[in-house]
Amino acid sequence: MRRIVVLTSGGDAPGMNAAVRAVVRRALHAGLEVWGARRGYWGLVRWDVQPMDASSVADIIHRGGTVLHTGRCEAFLDATVQERAARRLKEEGVDGVVVIGGDGSLRGALALEARGVAAVGVPGTIDNDLYGTERTIGFDSAVNTVVQAIDKIRDTATAHERTFVVEVMGRQAGFIALHAGLADGAESIILPEVGFEVEGVVERLRRGRERGKLYSIIVVAEGAASGYDVARRLAEYGIEARVTVLGHVQRGGSPSAYDRWLAARLGAAAVDALVAGRHGMMVGVRGEAIVETPLEQVVAARPALDRSIWELAQVLSS
Ligand code: ADP
Ligand code: F6P
Repeated sequence: MRRIVVLTSGGDAPGMNAAVRAVVRRALHAGLEVWGARRGYWGLVRWDVQPMDASSVADIIHRGGTVLHTGRCEAFLDATVQERAARRLKEEGVDGVVVIGGDGSLRGALALEARGVAAVGVPGTIDNDLYGTERTIGFDSAVNTVVQAIDKIRDTATAHERTFVVEVMGRQAGFIALHAGLADGAESIILPEVGFEVEGVVERLRRGRERGKLYSIIVVAEGAASGYDVARRLAEYGIEARVTVLGHVQRGGSPSAYDRWLAARLGAAAVDALVAGRHGMMVGVRGEAIVETPLEQVVAARPALDRSIWELAQVLSS
């Protein structure tokens, strides 16, 4: 192993910069040359690649976004394009690639691996929806952003004695909604893994009113329903609700201490694995331990959401 490429792909996540830093510095420490590909797989397709030294990743550990920029590169879904990128990597003497991103990005890593390029995935997405790791880089920061936003919404909800529906991201997964909802004491949490039944939400609101609760926060994961749809359904029962769609604010901002910690460990672990000759897998965490899961398994499965946490949230906010 002499030369590696690192790239960030898909939706950016707070902590991606800290992961890039860890990959670059760990690789340099191991005596490797490191190049950064810009805008996700576009960097490989257009060969937009830059050498990275220790100072190129200075002062980024605390910054959101990604200095390498990211991208959704549709062209990379094409087998011919993947083949060309793999050939170019080999011609340029690149021995390994570290891909930092979510599910789609790791499918791209698997495609490279299948074409003879040693690839290692690092889970970077706010959604926490990757099999093979308990946490993805960016999730903790996004949850904290949501919690801070809901704290503010609660102030105005209390002042006006209103019901609010807060829609959060997560694609098809409800992890952001569940964690933020529990941390915020939301009156209802609507998750794709549980399903949306308006009657249940209405019943909880009624019970809350009966015992003097004058405001309510309903957190809905985008994969379950849109915030506006939930409000429309509540209106059918005579309940007026304001809607806040938190949107891309959840992806920005300085990464939390936990995400920096995770990024440092996983970025370094990806390089260590390549140096040791292990690839075709994603590095992840289980508790404090680093674990490796084959990319085929990562893209074929979805992590399970613990329904008992949702039930607990219901109990605590009733
Ligand atoms: P994320 O990585 O956050 O899940 P996307 O699903 O948008 O984000 O995927 C990011 C990029 O990964 C895509 O734009 C594409 O370049 C690449 N990608 C996604 N799916 C595949 C696939 N099946 N094969 C090869 N590359 C893929
Ligand atoms: O995967 C991260 C994520 O922020 C999802 O939670 C969300 O559904 C999606 O990306 C939004 O994508 P875009 O940035 O293309 O609007």
